[in-house]
Amino acid sequence: MRILLLGANGQVGFELARSVAPLGSLVIAARGDCSAQSDRVSVDLNDLSALGTTLQRLRPEVILNAAAYTAVDQAEDDQDTAMRINAHAVEVLANHCDSTGALLVHYSTDYVFDGSASRPWREDDSPAPLGVYGRSKLAGEIAIREADCAHLILRTSWVYAARGQNFLRTMLRLGAEREHMRVVSDQMGAPTPARWIASATALILARLGKPHAVRETLHLTAAGEVSWHGFAQRIFELAAEQGILSRIPQLDPIPSDQYPTRAKRPAYSRLDNARLRERFDIVLPDWGLGVQQVLQELAGSPRLPLC
Ligand SMILES: NC(=O)c1ccc[n+]([C@@H]2O[C@H](COP(=O)([O-])OP(=O)(O)OC[C@H]3O[C@@H](n4cnc5c(N)ncnc54)[C@H](OP(=O)(O)O)[C@@H]3O)[C@@H](O)[C@H]2O)c1
Repeated sequence: MRILLLGANGQVGFELARSVAPLGSLVIAARGDCSAQSDRVSVDLNDLSALGTTLQRLRPEVILNAAAYTAVDQAEDDQDTAMRINAHAVEVLANHCDSTGALLVHYSTDYVFDGSASRPWREDDSPAPLGVYGRSKLAGEIAIREADCAHLILRTSWVYAARGQNFLRTMLRLGAEREHMRVVSDQMGAPTPARWIASATALILARLGKPHAVRETLHLTAAGEVSWHGFAQRIFELAAEQGILSRIPQLDPIPSDQYPTRAKRPAYSRLDNARLRERFDIVLPDWGLGVQQVLQELAGSPRLPLC
């Protein structure tokens, strides 16, 4: 199986490069100059025509698209770029897959929903994104479904890892600097480690009966739910236990309106994972175990700088 991985330097992409390697011959794509590495190609999703040419040359049987414009607040002021990368480039991928029969595995987000539910969001619930990022990701989903190529759209949430830009690493940096912090406590979701997303993706690919016939949207998140405040509290407790932080800062819960952001976030964005269990017999563990594992990884890799 010839697999093309896009976004290999991102949180999920980095983990995918390891998880899917045993499934076939893997070509890794990232932005920037990759000429020094024979298994890497340079792909900039801003350049839609170059993207098409690269796809024609590589003729992948599976495309894993972990590349995305993920700067949620910045997207509010940069709608064109967010749409180009999260929707128009995805449309190019989907059309290519439609014409060649390749499978497109694409990641999407809890931010396609408006957060108004009082139970976990199911795959068929109506999306109503609150901001540009969510709208651009939803447009990417729609482009895939309209192309009607073989596809898996995996919606996940609150992604973090030992590397990359994420809430856990920001909390560790701020927690080391500050005695006192305030974190939003009225947004609920499921923090999901990038490594679990990648492992589940590899399992799904291995268990897919007929990859060229699949057309599915699945929710793929850690089990359980927590607020950003609860997530931060757990990060600090475990980081102190692991010796990553020398003390736990005082952490006060605040409502979202006391921490205004450029983009509005959904209040309740937990996703229902029942379909993933029924279809592929996959259940990700509770979010708290993920925090423990990622902090253990960080404690064992003290050279990973916090950003
Ligand atoms: N992060 C979250 O909390 C979250 C939540 C729900 C869903 N998701 C979805 O999960 C997927 C993976 O997210 P992630 O957290 O791994 O994202 P990430 O760490 O921000 O990585 C995104 C990757 O996309 C690449 N990229 C951005 N613009 C590009 C362009 N023009 N051309 C080529 N590559 C480009 C980036 O390249 P550089 O390394 O060069 O910048 C980066 O490697 C995305 O589809 C995202 O929407 C994420």
